[in-house]
Amino acid sequence: MWLIIALTVLLIGLAISISWTRSRGAPWAPTPMSMVHKMLTMAEAGPNDLVYDLGCGDGRMIITAARRYGARAVGIELDPLRYLWCQLLITIFGLRGQIRIVYGDFFKQDLSEADVVTCYLLQDTNNKLEKKLKRELHPGPRVVSNYFTFPNLHLVRQDKEAELYMYLPGL
Ligand SMILES: C[S@@+](CC[C@H](N)C(=O)[O-])C[C@H]1O[C@@H](n2cnc3c(N)ncnc32)[C@H](O)[C@@H]1O
Repeated sequence: MWLIIALTVLLIGLAISISWTRSRGAPWAPTPMSMVHKMLTMAEAGPNDLVYDLGCGDGRMIITAARRYGARAVGIELDPLRYLWCQLLITIFGLRGQIRIVYGDFFKQDLSEADVVTCYLLQDTNNKLEKKLKRELHPGPRVVSNYFTFPNLHLVRQDKEAELYMYLPGL
């Protein structure tokens, strides 16, 4: 009986989380690790970069940016459970000095410090985000988007097969 109640609560929680995060930007769907590497390689992320992942999910992009590419990173996440999960992971991996996790809405955060921005959102969210990226990222930061495009940003690289796009919003 308790198991059924627990499962029901879990399923309801998941359904609320999916529809809520969808309405704010995108539901959680992790970028496959091979694509995480392709995105960071495309952006040429390195030790001199501050990488922002907009909607950092389980933290795979920022953790990989820090551990494998030597970058500093900031993850912004709206979902409290994923935010806490990321905090736990960066503590376990000893990355607190290299990674900061912000609990909140990326539309309300200042992105102007970023050298690299990564995202895997939705097309309507990218459309809304364009103006903010153009306003706050200039002149050089690279923006790499998984699958969805930024129709009005300056496209500088793409991997058609992987459906990855890199932009320089400052141009
Ligand atoms: C498709 S997942 C991508 C996760 C991660 N970036 C990756 O590549 O694996 C989108 C994430 O963005 C988060 N999200 C959606 N809208 C958001 C917003 N306005 N502010 C912060 N996070 C948001 C969701 O909770 C979800 O974890």
